[in-house]
Amino acid sequence: MVKMISIHSSRGGTGKSLISSNIATIYASQGRNVALLDFDFRAPSLLTIFQARPLVKGWVNDYLDGQARLENVMVDLTGRLKTPGRLLVGFANPNMEAMREIARKDRRWQMRALRRVIAMKQELAAKFGVEIIIIDTSPGIQYSSVNAVVAADVAVVISTMDILDQEGVQRIVSELYEPFEKQTVIIVNKAIPHEFVSEERKESLLSRVKGKFTQPLIAIIPCYCDLLLASRISLFVLDRPDHPFSRALKEIARRLESL
Ligand SMILES: Nc1ncnc2c1ncn2[C@@H]1O[C@H](COP(=O)(O)OP(=O)(O)O)[C@@H](O)[C@H]1O
Ligand SMILES: [Mg+2]
Repeated sequence: MVKMISIHSSRGGTGKSLISSNIATIYASQGRNVALLDFDFRAPSLLTIFQARPLVKGWVNDYLDGQARLENVMVDLTGRLKTPGRLLVGFANPNMEAMREIARKDRRWQMRALRRVIAMKQELAAKFGVEIIIIDTSPGIQYSSVNAVVAADVAVVISTMDILDQEGVQRIVSELYEPFEKQTVIIVNKAIPHEFVSEERKESLLSRVKGKFTQPLIAIIPCYCDLLLASRISLFVLDRPDHPFSRALKEIARRLESL
C-alpha cells in the first residue's frame, strides 16, 4: 500500500526541502518507487534543487486546479539520478503570478484541492506504481499544507533548536495534528555540532530536547556547513553517501518506513 509522508514546520528555513528531496532520493536508491511533491506554493524549492525547469510540462498547482493531468505534471528523474527505483517529482510553479493566484484561493477551492490530493495519492499508486509519496510543504497553517497533512499517513514536523520554532511546532501539533489524530514525529535539524562531541553530551541534548514536544522525537541532525557546498546538479545523499548527514537521513528513512 502507498504511504504518504508530509514534511512540515512552523517556520521557514528548517530544512524541509533539503530533507524531503534527499529522503525521496534515498528511497529511490533503495529500489522503491517514489513520488516527491512540492506543496510549498509560496516558496517553491524543488525546481532549483533538481534543476528541472526544461523538463516540466505542468505544475502541481494546475493539477490541484483541475487543469492538468498527473502524467503531464510528474517529471521522471530516474534516468538522470540513476536510481534503481523510480523517482517522480511534481513541481510547484515558481512564477510570481502563480504564487499570488494560489494564495487567493478560497476555502471551497481548498476543499476541492483536498479531494484532488487524495485522488492524486490513489492515482500515483495505481498508474505509476508509486509506493512512497513525500510532500514538501509550506511552513505554518497554509491551506495547502493542511491538505497535505490531512491526506498524509505519517506527518513529520521539523524544528530547529530555536525556541520560536519549537513553540511553533508544539502549537501546530496541538491545533492541527492532534485534532486529526495524525501519526506525527518530530525531527530537530541544525543542532549545534559541539553538542555531538561525546555520547554524554548527545544524551544530555536528547533528554533536554525530547521534553519540548508531545510527539516522538526521531532524530536530531547537526548543522553541517559543508551542506552549503552541496551540488545543485546531483543530490547530497548521492554525492556524499557516507557523510554523517546522509547517514542520519538514511536512519530517518528507515524509521519512517517502519511507522
Ligand atoms: N543540517 C543542516 N546543516 C546545514 N545546513 C542545512 C541543514 N539543513 C538545512 N540546511 C540549509 O538550510 C537552508 C534552508 O533549508 P531548506 O531545506 O530550504 O528549508 P525549508 O524548506 O524548510 O525552508 C538551505 O540552505 C539548506 O541547505
Ligand atoms: Mg522549502
